[in-house]
Amino acid sequence: MSNIVNLGVLVSGSGSNLQSIIDNIEKGTLPAKIRIIISNTPGAFAIERARKHGIPAVIIEPRGFYSREEYDRKVVDTLKSHDVELVVLAGFMRVLTPLFLRAFPMRIMNIHPAILPSFPGTHGQKKAFDYGVKFSGCTVHFADEGVDTGPIIIQGIVPVYDTDTEETLSQRILKEEHRIYPKAIKLYAEGKLQVEGRKVRVKDHPQPEDSPRHNPPVVDF
Ligand code: GRF
Repeated sequence: MSNIVNLGVLVSGSGSNLQSIIDNIEKGTLPAKIRIIISNTPGAFAIERARKHGIPAVIIEPRGFYSREEYDRKVVDTLKSHDVELVVLAGFMRVLTPLFLRAFPMRIMNIHPAILPSFPGTHGQKKAFDYGVKFSGCTVHFADEGVDTGPIIIQGIVPVYDTDTEETLSQRILKEEHRIYPKAIKLYAEGKLQVEGRKVRVKDHPQPEDSPRHNPPVVDF
């Protein structure tokens, strides 16, 4: 049995990951409730999505705050006042201060569009594409004080095709993001995530098959 976990989702842009979380909640596949959506930018399309689904959303712009800590305090207060248990960063384009991290220890998730620890920071898809990797993907991890450095919860892998552009690869990765982020939140809601140092163990969950993948495929060896 899963508990319904109260989420606070932080966004800055399109909010397609937010949408996949909303869709899974509405389908009944994710035992969660989004209590509040916070955007740091007024024009974020994610806000439209929130309104469409009747989910409370607020814009907290950084200007007017004296420091990053002061800004984060306001965000933390807003999350706490909505009884948020798990904070979900869904394209939120700010690095969190220790004040924020301390308020939600191992209760802040982020998604990154690359296989960490490769290609952290902005434009992870482009960095991987330009590097010439044969596989890329996405990573859901707990947030810590670094940029995309926290304990890894789940990773999804996609191939890179010779015909790809940065755009087509990014789309393939995004599609995978939409599958793994709700899954990671579900595992949290089910109480299945155990953090031991850098390792996140998933209780009572099947291990992946031992089936190596190659790109290009290795068929004649
Ligand atoms: C995603 O690529 C995510 O991995 C990154 O920011 C992007 C957000 O996209 N952290 P969206 O706003 O969810 O569409």
